[in-house]
Amino acid sequence: MHSFLFSNGEHGLHREERSSASSQELARLFDKAKVCRNCSLAASRLNVVFGEGDPLAEIAVIGEAPGAEEDASGRPFTGRSGQLLDKILEAAGFSRQEVYICNILKCRPPGNRNPLKDEIRSCMPLLLEQLQIVRPKVILILGKVAANTIFENSLSLGAIRGKMKAWRGFDCCCTFHPAAVLRNPRLKKEWMEDMQLMTDHCETLGRKKNARENEN
Ligand code: URA
Repeated sequence: MHSFLFSNGEHGLHREERSSASSQELARLFDKAKVCRNCSLAASRLNVVFGEGDPLAEIAVIGEAPGAEEDASGRPFTGRSGQLLDKILEAAGFSRQEVYICNILKCRPPGNRNPLKDEIRSCMPLLLEQLQIVRPKVILILGKVAANTIFENSLSLGAIRGKMKAWRGFDCCCTFHPAAVLRNPRLKKEWMEDMQLMTDHCETLGRKKNARENEN
């Protein structure tokens, strides 16, 4: 667990208060999402898969859209992809509970097809609000669809991954979607390299912050 890297002198009650305020804001946003009918996915969804995790997480993980298991459970990344995601996070030193996990789309596209432009347009404001509430230091973006959506391009994942990229004030690391790694285990090596890039970046942020605190 790397949370200490971002230690900002904020202990006990102060963090608890901020965490509870952030939880409440997320709950209010979730209530809004539950009744959203801004796109046609509202008609076929079983559940709105809003997101979960630490309301003050230093790392947010963004996937593409819920699949069948997530639609049924109402929780992101609970199927086979989710199990693999939990493993890679743990290998990198992060538990599922200490990150915040969500998706570009909050409702399952039928047959797990790619999100459509109007679905993304309808759903992005929710994601942006979630990120404004949680305010992660680093975002891990999973897969080409999520990366192309966030960076508004159509580049291959190979061209995007392997470096940190800035987006709306967040430091982002793009890597393969766990479903792609399940299909092609040979991607594991590069996947681990991307996770290392992210953890190295977290450590650099932690060091910079500590250095600033020591100056004061
Ligand atoms: N794939 C995703 O992109 N998100 C999920 O929540 C599950 C599978």
